[in-house]
Amino acid sequence: MNTTTTRPPGVERNAAPLLHGTEAVALGAVLPSGQWGHGPATDQFEADVADMLGVTDTVAVNSGTSALHLALRSIGIGPGDDVVLPSLTFCASVQAITWNGAAPRFAEIDPRTLAVTPDTVLEALTPNTRAVIPVLYGGRAVDLAPIRDHLAGRGIQIIEDAAHAFGSRYPDGTMVGADPAVLTCFSHDPIKNLTTGQGGTIVPRTREEAAALRSLRLFGIVQSKDARASLTSYEVQGAGMRFDMSQLNAAIGLAQLQHFPQTAAHRQYLWRAFQAELTGLEGVRLVDLDVANTVPFNCVVVLDHHRDDVFRHLREHGIGVAVHYPPNHTQAAFLPWHRDLPVTEQVASQILGLPFHPVMTHDSVRYTVAALADAIKATS
Ligand SMILES: Cc1ncc(COP(=O)(O)O)c(C=O)c1O
Repeated sequence: MNTTTTRPPGVERNAAPLLHGTEAVALGAVLPSGQWGHGPATDQFEADVADMLGVTDTVAVNSGTSALHLALRSIGIGPGDDVVLPSLTFCASVQAITWNGAAPRFAEIDPRTLAVTPDTVLEALTPNTRAVIPVLYGGRAVDLAPIRDHLAGRGIQIIEDAAHAFGSRYPDGTMVGADPAVLTCFSHDPIKNLTTGQGGTIVPRTREEAAALRSLRLFGIVQSKDARASLTSYEVQGAGMRFDMSQLNAAIGLAQLQHFPQTAAHRQYLWRAFQAELTGLEGVRLVDLDVANTVPFNCVVVLDHHRDDVFRHLREHGIGVAVHYPPNHTQAAFLPWHRDLPVTEQVASQILGLPFHPVMTHDSVRYTVAALADAIKATS
């Protein structure tokens, strides 16, 4: 391939946000208020996200990581508890467990989806397991329905790390976030399906849970910020952090949310374009995202051979490939919880994330796949 010709948009970046032009206007409307922490735009963002998901309430926080921290804390996870999760995830999922004083218990994954399955979760349970965190890799829902009663019977709760999965659905059509038995955490960082710049959303299951999460996210104070404005005092009822979402981030999120249906459709279009263009390319398997139900966050292939060489070759030719993720059970920070996970280790050495974001076009996809074919040829 002649890489000196003009490149189609976005191939040099693995992920990027798409600006619609309305974000700056939305920020301009909020800035003069001087209220740059939690404010009316944050409340509006919570309400609009709840509307979109078809739920009664959501709790906005300052990152997906904070969402996981608070979700675990809100259900009382702490020292002596085990939490099951895949090793193949961003380290934030694991840090949320260890920072709360609990132990990560790493589970194997299905190499087709890079996510845990009911069987791999069951295999990883211990007498101390109090929660399971399925990671919705690439945005695909993880259906634990077959073991839900078993988990509930053992007092084990499900907290979804849906950082990748805003807008996706379960195979039965339920939106991720709308399952009343699951506490769902989304990320809205710059490259996620819905961005607020930086931010996260927790979908609480009950009114009480929502109140507890709101208190935890802002210093443990009982009264809302608005109520405090007309009071000479306030009550601190327990532990709390400054994990609230600023109005500035919420304003960006509200602007992005208006265009979400188009962004979601474009992500599906791009993923299907990759699926078509990759057909017949030998030694390459696409990680299956169940695109009909998923708003794809990424496009990851599993290579039969020479992943590291192919990665380097593509980088040298200006293609924004990336590896998500190096497994966590072999990281120094998590060695106390190491287990043998041969499937994870094998597939982690083969995965390659292709450039994938809504700035791209079908030409960007064709160009990327042609570059991948060249890289495989050059390194075999
Ligand atoms: C699987 C997963 N979990 C959690 C997070 C943390 O989200 P945030 O960056 O919003 O803190 C990320 C972010 O990249 C992620 O990919």
